[in-house]
Amino acid sequence: MADLMDRFPAIEDLERRAKRRLPHFSWEYLASGTGDESAMHRNRSALLDVELLPQLMKGVIEPDTRTTLFGVEHAAPIGVAPLGMSGLIWPGADQALARTARANGFAHVLSTVATATPEDVGPLAGDMGWFQLYPPRDDALRSDLLDRVEGAGYRTLVITADVPKGSRRERQRKAHIRVPPKITPRLMWQSVTHPAWSMAVLRHGIPRFRTIEQYLDGTSLTAVAGFVGASLGGSLSFDYVAEVRARWTGNIVVKGILDPADARRSIDVGADAVWVSNHGGRQLEASPAAISCLPAIAAEIGDEVPVLFDSGVRSGADIARAISLGADFVFAGRPFYFGLGALGADGGGHAYEILHDGLLNVMHQTGCVRPAELRERTR
Ligand code: FNR
Repeated sequence: MADLMDRFPAIEDLERRAKRRLPHFSWEYLASGTGDESAMHRNRSALLDVELLPQLMKGVIEPDTRTTLFGVEHAAPIGVAPLGMSGLIWPGADQALARTARANGFAHVLSTVATATPEDVGPLAGDMGWFQLYPPRDDALRSDLLDRVEGAGYRTLVITADVPKGSRRERQRKAHIRVPPKITPRLMWQSVTHPAWSMAVLRHGIPRFRTIEQYLDGTSLTAVAGFVGASLGGSLSFDYVAEVRARWTGNIVVKGILDPADARRSIDVGADAVWVSNHGGRQLEASPAAISCLPAIAAEIGDEVPVLFDSGVRSGADIARAISLGADFVFAGRPFYFGLGALGADGGGHAYEILHDGLLNVMHQTGCVRPAELRERTR
Protein backbone atom coordinates (compact mmCIF):
# COMPACT_ATOMS: atom_id res chain seq x y z
CA MET A 1 0.00 0.00 0.00
CA ALA A 2 2.86 2.41 0.78
CA ASP A 3 3.99 2.12 -2.81
CA LEU A 4 0.52 2.94 -4.12
CA MET A 5 0.37 5.93 -1.78
CA ASP A 6 3.67 7.18 -3.25
CA ARG A 7 2.46 6.82 -6.81
CA PHE A 8 -1.13 7.94 -6.29
CA PRO A 9 -1.26 10.12 -3.17
CA ALA A 10 -4.44 11.96 -4.15
CA ILE A 11 -7.79 11.20 -5.81
CA GLU A 12 -6.72 13.51 -8.68
CA ASP A 13 -3.86 11.09 -9.43
CA LEU A 14 -6.34 8.22 -9.74
CA GLU A 15 -8.58 10.44 -11.88
CA ARG A 16 -5.78 11.22 -14.35
CA ARG A 17 -4.82 7.58 -14.72
CA ALA A 18 -8.44 6.43 -15.03
CA LYS A 19 -9.00 8.91 -17.83
CA ARG A 20 -6.15 7.30 -19.78
CA ARG A 21 -7.11 3.70 -19.05
CA LEU A 22 -10.88 3.81 -19.58
CA PRO A 23 -12.53 3.81 -23.02
CA HIS A 24 -13.81 7.26 -23.97
CA PHE A 25 -17.50 6.32 -23.48
CA SER A 26 -16.83 4.95 -19.97
CA TRP A 27 -14.87 8.02 -19.00
CA GLU A 28 -17.43 10.47 -20.36
CA TYR A 29 -20.28 8.59 -18.68
CA LEU A 30 -18.49 8.75 -15.32
CA ALA A 31 -17.08 12.24 -15.49
CA SER A 32 -19.92 14.22 -17.03
CA GLY A 33 -22.31 16.53 -15.25
CA THR A 34 -25.48 17.98 -16.68
CA GLY A 35 -25.78 21.02 -18.96
CA ASP A 36 -22.84 23.39 -18.78
CA GLU A 37 -21.61 21.39 -15.76
CA SER A 38 -21.67 24.49 -13.57
CA ALA A 39 -23.35 22.60 -10.71
CA MET A 40 -20.59 20.01 -10.80
CA HIS A 41 -17.89 22.70 -10.68
CA ARG A 42 -19.76 24.64 -8.02
CA ASN A 43 -19.71 21.53 -5.81
CA ARG A 44 -15.91 21.64 -5.89
CA SER A 45 -15.38 25.36 -5.52
CA ALA A 46 -17.84 25.68 -2.64
CA LEU A 47 -16.21 22.78 -0.78
CA LEU A 48 -12.77 24.33 -1.23
CA ASP A 49 -14.06 27.54 0.36
CA VAL A 50 -14.97 25.80 3.63
CA GLU A 51 -12.32 26.60 6.22
CA LEU A 52 -11.47 24.81 9.47
CA LEU A 53 -9.85 26.62 12.36
CA PRO A 54 -7.17 24.48 14.01
CA GLN A 55 -7.06 24.12 17.77
CA LEU A 56 -3.51 23.43 18.86
CA MET A 57 -1.24 22.34 21.72
CA LYS A 58 -3.36 19.43 22.86
CA GLY A 59 -0.35 17.17 23.39
CA VAL A 60 -0.50 13.69 21.90
CA ILE A 61 -3.88 12.93 20.38
CA GLU A 62 -5.13 9.74 18.70
CA PRO A 63 -7.86 10.61 16.20
CA ASP A 64 -10.44 7.86 15.92
CA THR A 65 -12.76 7.84 12.91
CA ARG A 66 -14.99 4.95 13.98
CA THR A 67 -18.62 5.90 13.49
CA THR A 68 -21.80 4.05 14.37
CA LEU A 69 -24.68 4.54 11.97
CA PHE A 70 -27.97 2.63 12.20
CA GLY A 71 -26.42 0.53 14.96
CA VAL A 72 -23.53 -0.63 12.77
CA GLU A 73 -19.95 0.36 13.52
CA HIS A 74 -17.97 1.65 10.51
CA ALA A 75 -14.22 2.25 10.48
CA ALA A 76 -14.90 5.77 9.23
CA PRO A 77 -17.91 7.92 8.27
CA ILE A 78 -17.25 7.17 4.61
CA GLY A 79 -19.26 5.37 1.94
CA VAL A 80 -19.50 4.63 -1.78
CA ALA A 81 -22.50 6.39 -3.34
CA PRO A 82 -24.70 4.36 -5.71
CA LEU A 83 -23.75 4.50 -9.39
CA GLY A 84 -25.99 3.17 -12.14
CA MET A 85 -24.59 1.23 -15.11
CA SER A 86 -21.56 0.72 -12.88
CA GLY A 87 -20.16 -2.07 -15.05
CA LEU A 88 -19.95 0.27 -18.02
CA ILE A 89 -17.34 2.22 -16.07
CA TRP A 90 -15.56 -0.79 -14.65
CA PRO A 91 -16.90 -4.31 -15.25
CA GLY A 92 -17.48 -5.98 -11.89
CA ALA A 93 -17.34 -2.59 -10.13
CA ASP A 94 -19.99 -3.26 -7.49
CA GLN A 95 -18.68 -6.70 -6.57
CA ALA A 96 -15.17 -5.26 -6.16
CA LEU A 97 -16.35 -2.26 -4.16
CA ALA A 98 -18.66 -4.32 -1.94
CA ARG A 99 -15.81 -6.69 -1.02
CA THR A 100 -13.46 -3.80 -0.31
CA ALA A 101 -16.09 -1.96 1.71
CA ARG A 102 -16.68 -4.97 3.91
CA ALA A 103 -12.97 -5.65 4.38
CA ASN A 104 -12.27 -2.03 5.39
CA GLY A 105 -15.50 -1.17 7.23
CA PHE A 106 -17.02 1.54 5.01
CA ALA A 107 -20.49 1.63 3.46
CA HIS A 108 -21.36 0.55 -0.09
CA VAL A 109 -24.64 1.47 -1.78
CA LEU A 110 -25.86 -0.62 -4.73
CA SER A 111 -28.00 1.19 -7.31
CA THR A 112 -31.28 -0.24 -8.68
CA VAL A 113 -29.78 0.30 -12.12
CA ALA A 114 -26.35 -1.12 -11.31
CA THR A 115 -25.12 -3.95 -13.48
CA ALA A 116 -25.03 -6.46 -10.63
CA THR A 117 -27.96 -7.79 -8.60
CA PRO A 118 -28.66 -7.41 -4.88
CA GLU A 119 -28.46 -11.22 -4.65
CA ASP A 120 -24.88 -11.10 -5.99
CA VAL A 121 -23.64 -8.05 -4.14
CA GLY A 122 -25.52 -8.15 -0.80
CA PRO A 123 -23.63 -11.15 0.60
CA LEU A 124 -20.30 -9.59 -0.44
CA ALA A 125 -21.06 -6.30 1.33
CA GLY A 126 -22.49 -7.86 4.53
CA ASP A 127 -23.27 -5.20 7.14
CA MET A 128 -21.68 -2.54 4.96
CA GLY A 129 -24.24 -2.94 2.16
CA TRP A 130 -27.14 -0.58 1.46
CA PHE A 131 -29.55 -0.65 -1.50
CA GLN A 132 -30.66 2.41 -3.49
CA LEU A 133 -34.18 2.40 -4.88
CA TYR A 134 -35.36 4.19 -7.97
CA PRO A 135 -39.07 4.02 -7.24
CA PRO A 136 -40.87 1.48 -9.44
CA ARG A 137 -44.31 2.69 -10.50
CA ASP A 138 -45.77 -0.79 -10.46
CA ASP A 139 -46.78 -2.04 -6.99
CA ALA A 140 -46.13 -5.71 -7.70
CA LEU A 141 -42.69 -4.94 -9.10
CA ARG A 142 -41.84 -2.74 -6.12
CA SER A 143 -42.96 -5.37 -3.69
CA ASP A 144 -40.98 -8.11 -5.42
CA LEU A 145 -37.87 -5.95 -5.64
CA LEU A 146 -38.05 -5.05 -1.95
CA ASP A 147 -38.48 -8.75 -1.06
CA ARG A 148 -35.38 -9.56 -3.07
CA VAL A 149 -33.36 -6.73 -1.50
CA GLU A 150 -34.39 -7.84 1.99
CA GLY A 151 -33.65 -11.47 1.13
CA ALA A 152 -30.17 -10.45 -0.01
CA GLY A 153 -29.50 -9.16 3.52
CA TYR A 154 -29.92 -5.41 3.02
CA ARG A 155 -31.25 -3.45 5.98
CA THR A 156 -30.89 0.09 4.66
CA LEU A 157 -32.83 1.41 1.70
CA VAL A 158 -31.89 4.69 0.02
CA ILE A 159 -34.72 6.28 -1.96
CA THR A 160 -33.36 8.69 -4.53
CA ALA A 161 -35.53 11.78 -4.79
CA ASP A 162 -33.62 14.01 -7.17
CA VAL A 163 -34.45 12.34 -10.50
CA PRO A 164 -37.98 13.56 -11.28
CA LYS A 165 -36.96 13.08 -14.91
CA GLY A 166 -33.83 11.96 -16.72
CA SER A 167 -31.54 14.93 -17.18
CA ARG A 168 -30.08 16.27 -20.42
CA ARG A 169 -26.45 15.23 -20.28
CA GLU A 170 -25.13 17.03 -23.31
CA ARG A 171 -21.59 15.77 -22.87
CA GLN A 172 -22.81 12.18 -22.79
CA ARG A 173 -24.82 12.74 -25.93
CA LYS A 174 -21.79 14.11 -27.71
CA ALA A 175 -19.85 11.02 -26.69
CA HIS A 176 -22.68 8.90 -28.21
CA ILE A 177 -23.37 7.18 -24.93
CA ARG A 178 -26.52 5.11 -24.75
CA VAL A 179 -27.42 3.58 -21.44
CA PRO A 180 -27.30 0.62 -21.67
CA PRO A 181 -24.61 0.73 -24.36
CA LYS A 182 -25.35 0.11 -28.01
CA ILE A 183 -22.66 -2.02 -29.61
CA THR A 184 -21.34 0.08 -32.51
CA PRO A 185 -18.03 -0.02 -34.40
CA ARG A 186 -17.01 3.12 -32.52
CA LEU A 187 -17.65 1.42 -29.16
CA MET A 188 -15.86 -1.74 -30.28
CA TRP A 189 -12.81 0.27 -31.33
CA GLN A 190 -12.69 2.19 -28.04
CA SER A 191 -12.93 -1.13 -26.18
CA VAL A 192 -10.17 -3.00 -27.99
CA THR A 193 -7.82 -0.06 -27.63
CA HIS A 194 -8.31 -0.20 -23.83
CA PRO A 195 -7.27 -3.75 -22.98
CA ALA A 196 -7.56 -3.57 -19.17
CA TRP A 197 -11.23 -2.63 -19.52
CA SER A 198 -11.87 -5.23 -22.25
CA MET A 199 -10.31 -7.98 -20.14
CA ALA A 200 -12.62 -7.04 -17.29
CA VAL A 201 -15.59 -7.30 -19.68
CA LEU A 202 -14.47 -10.77 -20.68
CA ARG A 203 -14.52 -11.75 -17.01
CA HIS A 204 -17.82 -10.10 -16.08
CA GLY A 205 -19.83 -9.98 -19.31
CA ILE A 206 -21.38 -7.06 -21.19
CA PRO A 207 -22.88 -4.60 -18.68
CA ARG A 208 -26.65 -5.03 -18.34
CA PHE A 209 -29.31 -3.82 -15.90
CA ARG A 210 -29.33 -7.24 -14.28
CA THR A 211 -31.52 -6.37 -11.28
CA ILE A 212 -34.52 -5.31 -13.31
CA GLU A 213 -34.20 -7.20 -16.58
CA GLN A 214 -36.07 -10.15 -15.10
CA TYR A 215 -39.24 -8.03 -15.00
CA LEU A 216 -39.25 -7.80 -18.79
CA ASP A 217 -40.19 -10.31 -21.42
CA GLY A 218 -37.17 -9.60 -23.57
CA THR A 219 -33.77 -8.50 -22.35
CA SER A 220 -32.82 -6.58 -25.47
CA LEU A 221 -30.91 -3.50 -24.41
CA THR A 222 -33.42 -1.20 -26.05
CA ALA A 223 -36.32 -2.88 -24.25
CA VAL A 224 -34.55 -2.55 -20.90
CA ALA A 225 -33.63 1.07 -21.51
CA GLY A 226 -37.23 1.91 -22.40
CA PHE A 227 -38.47 0.08 -19.34
CA VAL A 228 -36.11 1.94 -17.01
CA GLY A 229 -37.28 5.28 -18.35
CA ALA A 230 -40.95 4.38 -18.23
CA SER A 231 -41.13 2.40 -15.01
CA LEU A 232 -38.57 3.66 -12.53
CA GLY A 233 -38.79 7.39 -12.56
CA GLY A 234 -40.96 10.37 -12.09
CA SER A 235 -43.38 8.79 -9.66
CA LEU A 236 -41.86 9.75 -6.34
CA SER A 237 -43.90 11.69 -3.81
CA PHE A 238 -43.94 11.90 -0.03
CA ASP A 239 -46.94 9.54 -0.09
CA TYR A 240 -44.82 7.05 -1.99
CA VAL A 241 -42.11 7.23 0.68
CA ALA A 242 -44.83 6.69 3.31
CA GLU A 243 -45.99 3.57 1.43
CA VAL A 244 -42.47 2.18 1.32
CA ARG A 245 -42.17 3.04 5.03
CA ALA A 246 -45.20 0.87 5.75
CA ARG A 247 -43.62 -2.04 3.90
CA TRP A 248 -39.87 -1.79 4.67
CA THR A 249 -38.87 -2.72 8.21
CA GLY A 250 -35.26 -1.57 7.90
CA ASN A 251 -33.85 1.95 7.66
CA ILE A 252 -34.99 4.42 5.02
CA VAL A 253 -32.76 7.21 3.74
CA VAL A 254 -34.04 9.88 1.33
CA LYS A 255 -31.25 10.97 -1.03
CA GLY A 256 -30.96 14.13 -3.08
CA ILE A 257 -32.30 16.65 -0.58
CA LEU A 258 -31.28 20.33 -0.85
CA ASP A 259 -34.24 22.17 0.70
CA PRO A 260 -34.76 22.07 4.49
CA ALA A 261 -38.53 21.81 3.93
CA ASP A 262 -38.03 18.60 1.90
CA ALA A 263 -35.78 17.28 4.67
CA ARG A 264 -38.48 17.98 7.24
CA ARG A 265 -41.22 16.32 5.17
CA SER A 266 -39.02 13.29 4.56
CA ILE A 267 -38.69 12.83 8.31
CA ASP A 268 -42.41 13.38 8.78
CA VAL A 269 -43.15 10.45 6.45
CA GLY A 270 -40.72 8.20 8.28
CA ALA A 271 -37.20 8.66 6.88
CA ASP A 272 -34.47 7.53 9.26
CA ALA A 273 -31.89 9.82 7.64
CA VAL A 274 -31.66 12.45 4.92
CA TRP A 275 -28.88 12.56 2.35
CA VAL A 276 -27.94 16.02 1.14
CA SER A 277 -26.80 15.76 -2.49
CA ASN A 278 -27.21 17.29 -5.92
CA HIS A 279 -26.38 13.96 -7.59
CA GLY A 280 -22.81 15.07 -8.23
CA GLY A 281 -24.09 17.89 -10.44
CA ARG A 282 -25.76 15.49 -12.88
CA GLN A 283 -29.40 16.60 -12.68
CA LEU A 284 -29.79 20.40 -12.57
CA GLU A 285 -27.04 22.68 -13.79
CA ALA A 286 -28.53 25.62 -11.89
CA SER A 287 -28.47 23.66 -8.63
CA PRO A 288 -26.67 25.19 -5.67
CA ALA A 289 -23.55 23.38 -4.53
CA ALA A 290 -24.71 20.61 -2.22
CA ILE A 291 -22.31 21.76 0.51
CA SER A 292 -23.98 25.22 0.57
CA CYS A 293 -27.30 23.56 1.40
CA LEU A 294 -25.93 21.42 4.22
CA PRO A 295 -25.87 23.95 7.12
CA ALA A 296 -29.55 24.91 6.79
CA ILE A 297 -30.64 21.27 6.61
CA ALA A 298 -28.45 20.32 9.58
CA ALA A 299 -29.98 23.24 11.52
CA GLU A 300 -33.53 22.16 10.59
CA ILE A 301 -32.95 18.56 11.63
CA GLY A 302 -30.67 18.95 14.63
CA ASP A 303 -30.08 15.55 16.20
CA GLU A 304 -33.41 14.05 15.11
CA VAL A 305 -31.92 11.82 12.42
CA PRO A 306 -28.46 11.50 10.86
CA VAL A 307 -27.58 13.81 7.98
CA LEU A 308 -25.60 12.24 5.13
CA PHE A 309 -23.77 14.13 2.41
CA ASP A 310 -22.23 13.75 -1.04
CA SER A 311 -21.39 15.72 -4.20
CA GLY A 312 -17.88 16.90 -4.98
CA VAL A 313 -15.94 15.15 -2.19
CA ARG A 314 -12.40 14.46 -3.41
CA SER A 315 -10.28 14.31 -0.23
CA GLY A 316 -10.27 13.59 3.48
CA ALA A 317 -10.26 17.35 3.98
CA ASP A 318 -13.56 17.56 2.05
CA ILE A 319 -15.02 14.88 4.32
CA ALA A 320 -13.90 16.92 7.34
CA ARG A 321 -15.43 20.05 5.77
CA ALA A 322 -18.79 18.33 5.30
CA ILE A 323 -18.73 16.99 8.86
CA SER A 324 -17.87 20.45 10.17
CA LEU A 325 -21.03 21.79 8.51
CA GLY A 326 -23.29 19.12 9.99
CA ALA A 327 -22.87 15.83 8.11
CA ASP A 328 -22.72 12.63 10.15
CA PHE A 329 -21.57 10.45 7.26
CA VAL A 330 -20.05 11.38 3.91
CA PHE A 331 -20.20 9.55 0.57
CA ALA A 332 -18.22 9.81 -2.64
CA GLY A 333 -19.26 8.53 -6.05
CA ARG A 334 -16.72 9.21 -8.79
CA PRO A 335 -13.56 8.94 -6.59
CA PHE A 336 -14.08 5.21 -5.99
CA TYR A 337 -14.59 4.67 -9.72
CA PHE A 338 -11.49 6.71 -10.53
CA GLY A 339 -9.75 4.16 -8.30
CA LEU A 340 -11.20 1.21 -10.24
CA GLY A 341 -10.43 2.80 -13.58
CA ALA A 342 -6.86 3.56 -12.54
CA LEU A 343 -5.95 0.39 -10.67
CA GLY A 344 -8.57 -2.25 -11.41
CA ALA A 345 -10.51 -4.17 -8.76
CA ASP A 346 -8.26 -3.03 -5.88
CA GLY A 347 -8.54 0.63 -6.82
CA GLY A 348 -11.60 1.30 -4.67
CA GLY A 349 -9.58 0.27 -1.62
CA HIS A 350 -6.86 2.74 -2.50
CA ALA A 351 -9.40 5.53 -2.99
CA TYR A 352 -10.66 4.74 0.52
CA GLU A 353 -7.11 4.82 1.91
CA ILE A 354 -6.57 8.27 0.43
CA LEU A 355 -9.83 9.60 1.87
CA HIS A 356 -9.39 7.98 5.26
CA ASP A 357 -5.75 8.93 5.65
CA GLY A 358 -6.62 12.50 4.69
CA LEU A 359 -9.45 12.65 7.21
CA LEU A 360 -7.20 11.37 10.00
CA ASN A 361 -4.59 13.94 9.11
CA VAL A 362 -7.07 16.83 9.16
CA MET A 363 -8.32 15.63 12.55
CA HIS A 364 -4.71 15.77 13.79
CA GLN A 365 -4.16 19.23 12.31
CA THR A 366 -7.34 20.58 13.89
CA GLY A 367 -6.98 18.83 17.26
CA CYS A 368 -10.06 16.62 16.89
CA VAL A 369 -10.18 13.14 18.41
CA ARG A 370 -13.68 12.28 17.17
CA PRO A 371 -15.19 13.33 13.83
CA ALA A 372 -18.04 15.16 15.57
CA GLU A 373 -15.50 17.56 17.15
CA LEU A 374 -14.92 18.97 13.65
CA ARG A 375 -18.25 20.81 14.12
CA GLU A 376 -16.49 23.17 16.52
CA ARG A 377 -13.78 23.92 13.96
CA THR A 378 -15.93 25.85 11.44
CA ARG A 379 -15.44 29.53 10.84
C1 FNR B 1 -24.63 8.65 -10.14
N1 FNR B 1 -25.50 8.89 -9.06
C2 FNR B 1 -26.56 8.03 -8.83
N2 FNR B 1 -27.35 8.21 -7.72
C3 FNR B 1 -28.35 7.35 -7.46
O1 FNR B 1 -29.03 7.52 -6.45
N3 FNR B 1 -28.59 6.28 -8.29
C4 FNR B 1 -27.86 6.05 -9.40
O2 FNR B 1 -28.09 5.06 -10.11
C5 FNR B 1 -26.82 6.97 -9.72
N4 FNR B 1 -26.05 6.82 -10.83
C6 FNR B 1 -24.93 7.60 -11.02
C7 FNR B 1 -24.08 7.34 -12.10
C8 FNR B 1 -22.92 8.08 -12.26
C9 FNR B 1 -21.97 7.76 -13.39
C10 FNR B 1 -22.60 9.11 -11.33
C11 FNR B 1 -21.31 9.91 -11.44
C12 FNR B 1 -23.45 9.39 -10.29
C13 FNR B 1 -25.18 9.96 -8.08
C14 FNR B 1 -24.26 9.42 -7.00
O3 FNR B 1 -24.93 8.51 -6.17
C15 FNR B 1 -23.71 10.55 -6.11
O4 FNR B 1 -24.77 11.33 -5.63
C16 FNR B 1 -22.70 11.44 -6.83
O5 FNR B 1 -21.83 10.68 -7.63
C17 FNR B 1 -21.89 12.22 -5.80
O6 FNR B 1 -21.00 13.11 -6.40
P1 FNR B 1 -19.45 12.79 -6.66
O7 FNR B 1 -18.89 12.16 -5.40
O8 FNR B 1 -19.39 11.87 -7.83
O9 FNR B 1 -18.89 14.14 -6.94
